[in-house]
Amino acid sequence: MRVILSTGILSLLVAVSGFSDNSVRRFKDGFLFGTASAAYQVEGAWNEDGKGQSVWDHHFHSDPELWSAPGDVASDSYHNYKRDVEMLRELGVDVYRFSISWTRVLPGGFSSMKNEPGLQYYDSLIDELLKHNIQPMVTMYHFDLPMVLQHLGGWANPYSIEWFEDYARVLFDRYASKVKYWITINQPNSVCEVENFENHLPKSTKGVMDYLCAKHVLLAHARTYRMYEKEYKKKYGGSVGISISVNWAEPATNTTENVEAAEIYREFTYGMYLNPIWSKSGDFPKLVKDRVAKKSKEQGFVRSRLPSLTKDDIKLIKGSADFLGLNHYTTFLTSPSKGGHPVPSFADDVSVDLTTKEEWKQSHSAWLKSAPYGLYKACLHLNKRYDYPTIFITENGWSTDKGLQDPSRSEYIQQYLKALLFAIEDGTEVLGYIYWSLMDNVEWMAGTSERFGLYEVDFDSPERTRTARQSALVYKRIIQKRVVEEGWKPNNLKITVSKVKTEL
Ligand code: BGC
Repeated sequence: MRVILSTGILSLLVAVSGFSDNSVRRFKDGFLFGTASAAYQVEGAWNEDGKGQSVWDHHFHSDPELWSAPGDVASDSYHNYKRDVEMLRELGVDVYRFSISWTRVLPGGFSSMKNEPGLQYYDSLIDELLKHNIQPMVTMYHFDLPMVLQHLGGWANPYSIEWFEDYARVLFDRYASKVKYWITINQPNSVCEVENFENHLPKSTKGVMDYLCAKHVLLAHARTYRMYEKEYKKKYGGSVGISISVNWAEPATNTTENVEAAEIYREFTYGMYLNPIWSKSGDFPKLVKDRVAKKSKEQGFVRSRLPSLTKDDIKLIKGSADFLGLNHYTTFLTSPSKGGHPVPSFADDVSVDLTTKEEWKQSHSAWLKSAPYGLYKACLHLNKRYDYPTIFITENGWSTDKGLQDPSRSEYIQQYLKALLFAIEDGTEVLGYIYWSLMDNVEWMAGTSERFGLYEVDFDSPERTRTARQSALVYKRIIQKRVVEEGWKPNNLKITVSKVKTEL
């Protein structure tokens, strides 16, 4: 256990209130800045050059209310990747996090049939990045499971562990010599909560499928990590992590029930994935195991709906990450649920209601408000609970409406980065920060109505023209100066490639 270096309480007060204590805090040399995207959300070309269907292609195409699926063209990065890299050069980032579309490289989901044009697309993107000394960070799976595999039960099927491992091997074989940062799975906690995919799945899978998925996703991740460790790491020296959605949760007021609700919420939403990998004992959190076992028994199940991990599973999963990819957007306040959830379900197992503070600034997404101190608190909580894990902030972002003037995004970035500097000062080990997202994209069910981009995308133009927003210049300035100058604004929106980067 490390000693906290500076005055945590003082820093926390500063982070909460937004007051400055006049010290200039810097991101040290070697701290990596980046931006991110994901295949379904930006690529388009949904059926070009041999690509197969993912669950999202299928979902949108089977909705008779929709005349076209938002991901069919999306931001058309499949045809615009050179412009995307130019934007990254304009920003001066060190890293670009993007995901590979499983069905673009393996149209039928299995590794028996590889799609060369799909593999070549990622060769071109990676080469273009490396040409400009921008490190690719590859997410292997960002929600877009091959539909063929979903027909076989998706992540509920224990064979999904092998399907993923086989897919991962194809990617390592092809790209490991060039890609040094790998993320196996994006937000298993979103993938596995049936509530998120309500439209795809029969109601009877609630409270069962969630936990089968959690077990299989963890094993798929761990087997992939071990494969890299054994067969690729020595040769290529890269690192492999997993990105977990960690929004901070704290009691609405300080009653015993609300405090307990916060702990339950944290353990069910992210402890389920962090505990098996980062805790000393491994395995799912005790709180989760006890609670699901008790409820399952009351509901007449012969055994807990949460499958157990064997001793070998626990050993395999424990320590299976070089870094913790932290996706953090917001904070919630917790109290015990007033009920009304289907039984059984993940929501009923958790039984926690979430609220927010009136005074927190609202984004263009109903679920997203700005509370930067939550990032600070989440980091300190993880340090305490998991003994200072190495963190990479793999997502943090803000949505607005259309438009190039986006002061609320600039402010969000500045304040969250300031909170991060305090967390670093107080002992958090952070390799880098990645803003979500490089450009406007398909925000899943919300289509293109919620804009997260540093660059605006004109979805009405066939070229999907990209234009830098004000926040792009604000982020660029932070990257250049390595300090946060609160309130700094550019005089105009002109952005050019200005930084000649040296070899990383
Ligand atoms: C997901 C992204 C999504 C973003 C904003 C993240 O949790 O990984 O795909 O666009 O949230 O909702």
